[in-house]
Amino acid sequence: MAIKVTRVAPEKMKPKPADESNLGFGGIFTDHFFIMEYHNERGWHNASIEPYRPLSLDPSAMCLHYGQEIFEGMKAYRGSDDSIYLFRPEENIKRMNTSAERLCMAEIDSDLFREGLEKLVALEKDWIPRSSGTSLYIRPTMIATEKALGVHPSSEYLFYIIVGPVGAYYPQGFSPTKIYVSEEFVRSVRGGVGFCKAAGNYAASLYASEKAGKLGYTQVLWLDALEMKYVEEVGTSNIFFFIGDELITPPLTGSILPGVTRDSVIQLAKHWKINVSERPLSMDEILDTHADGTLKDCFASGTAAIVSPVGQIYYKGKEYVINEGKTGEVTERLYNEILQIQYGEKEDPFGWRVKISD
Ligand SMILES: Cc1ncc(COP(=O)(O)O)c(C=O)c1O
Repeated sequence: MAIKVTRVAPEKMKPKPADESNLGFGGIFTDHFFIMEYHNERGWHNASIEPYRPLSLDPSAMCLHYGQEIFEGMKAYRGSDDSIYLFRPEENIKRMNTSAERLCMAEIDSDLFREGLEKLVALEKDWIPRSSGTSLYIRPTMIATEKALGVHPSSEYLFYIIVGPVGAYYPQGFSPTKIYVSEEFVRSVRGGVGFCKAAGNYAASLYASEKAGKLGYTQVLWLDALEMKYVEEVGTSNIFFFIGDELITPPLTGSILPGVTRDSVIQLAKHWKINVSERPLSMDEILDTHADGTLKDCFASGTAAIVSPVGQIYYKGKEYVINEGKTGEVTERLYNEILQIQYGEKEDPFGWRVKISD
């Protein structure tokens, strides 16, 4: 299917942010977006890049009632020679389709997804900031649009991609976070939709996050919902612990989002001959190894920050400081390596980087 491109009139183009040190996250969107429609009988159609605009939805649109809404999160990076790169876009496309399948939504042809994404990023190239650590955030989204009440899979969908410049996550260097282990609330459970990037998962996480925030913690560390014993994820990131000489992250058993950064960390660490395990890790083991001094490092992984050091954990009324509250060596090494691969500053032995052509 050909993608129709309608450009915004030059006099209607938005001013680009002048101050790259103040971009923040998620508040600025560019001049255009990619959008296409789906109907059970027609399949995907009307693929186009158009001037960014509000959507018009019938108040009965099914996404507004039964939560068939999925999305992705990825970034485009500007290298020092002005080349533009994506990082493992195929993984996000695959994950979006996994989410679509689980929520009974329409799957998207990956070539068309990729073409729409690359065309949009190329068209909005001038919006990609230049300062170190900044990028263009990309948010592919799918919503159910059939006008009907009654719980059943929608027969119509809208898929769109919006993009916007975002600031560096660590403008002043790493800042280890304080995390709160939730014993009361869970994010998802095996058999549910935790492995999908479904909007409802995020709605379900807000209450506990707000509570933790009020107590002075940056993120919630989620435990497994069945036994409330094993660590699962932290906030909207995957979690890693470095104990003895083993880098441990929980296995993908259905309640955890399979992060693209998580997989990149695993591959990179294995490449460096670090002993990596995807295995259940209990709070008891974390406390024991904290007590005997073998717990060396802990970090979260995700597209937003790459890796984010964890300096302190709150559990059952007690604070546990990790690595004296400082960023660990492995965390820093992983951060630098992935960042340099993303920005085209380092060899990419895994073929993760995709250069966008004009
Ligand atoms: C719940 C959750 N877990 C983990 C991640 C990390 O995934 P990725 O590395 O693909 O950004 C995210 C972020 O997208 C998330 O929302």
